[in-house]
Amino acid sequence: MNKKILNFIKKKNKSKIISLTAYSKNIASIIDRHCDLVLVGDSLGSVLYSFSSTKKVTLDMMIEHSKSVRMGVKKSLMVVDMPHNTYRNSKEALSNAKKIISKTKCDAIKLEGGKKVIQIIKTLIKNKISVMGHLGVLPQSATNFKFKGKETAERKIILRDSKLLEDAGVFSMVLECVESSLAKEITKTVKVPTIGIGASVHCDGQVLVTDDLIGLNKIKARFVKRYSNIEKQINDAALKFKKDVIRSKFPTKKHSY
Ligand code: KIV
Repeated sequence: MNKKILNFIKKKNKSKIISLTAYSKNIASIIDRHCDLVLVGDSLGSVLYSFSSTKKVTLDMMIEHSKSVRMGVKKSLMVVDMPHNTYRNSKEALSNAKKIISKTKCDAIKLEGGKKVIQIIKTLIKNKISVMGHLGVLPQSATNFKFKGKETAERKIILRDSKLLEDAGVFSMVLECVESSLAKEITKTVKVPTIGIGASVHCDGQVLVTDDLIGLNKIKARFVKRYSNIEKQINDAALKFKKDVIRSKFPTKKHSY
């Protein structure tokens, strides 16, 4: 494991871990100042491309966006999501993970699932690829987006999966929409940091989709907190520009050659 990843793990029980998504350089360079981990999430499929699910996101899309993000991330750990149908078996996963890492220079990849993907994760780690796990709601295979861990049987499976992921060697895991007390139990049980999204304050860190955070994406979900309204600022700027152009107030001599 490289030093950056080891330092990231050491944050557990010391300081809260801050993580946000980025799909491009400009956003990445701003959030990098405040983050421990910048995730190029396959949520870009719904957020940027209005896909009905993340299933349509391709490897090439992830690679191109990640190349842009790489230019903005200087200090945080940069993690890239492996999209749907790119890790159906160990051979496919290894070839695609190597492609992502060599083309984007990211620090690690993330993939969704528990027991079903354990062999794949072990193969990646054996080949010196750092892997972040993802449990709870799994958008690449979900049939619904209800929170996970209400029923005892489901709780047992998620808890078991968290231990399997840890044993396989993941350096961290996202817990998406996992019931609070279960997220707390997992966070206490595993030695690697848990990063929650809709999974309570008990996780070692939190992640949000930046477009949700800044009010650019209009998703209505319990786990989203809007910290600013960038849509209004863009709207106001575009409106001012329009008025200035109509009144011939822009460009002035200062902005002309
Ligand atoms: O794709 C994504 O942005 C994610 C986060 C929501 C954790 O996986």
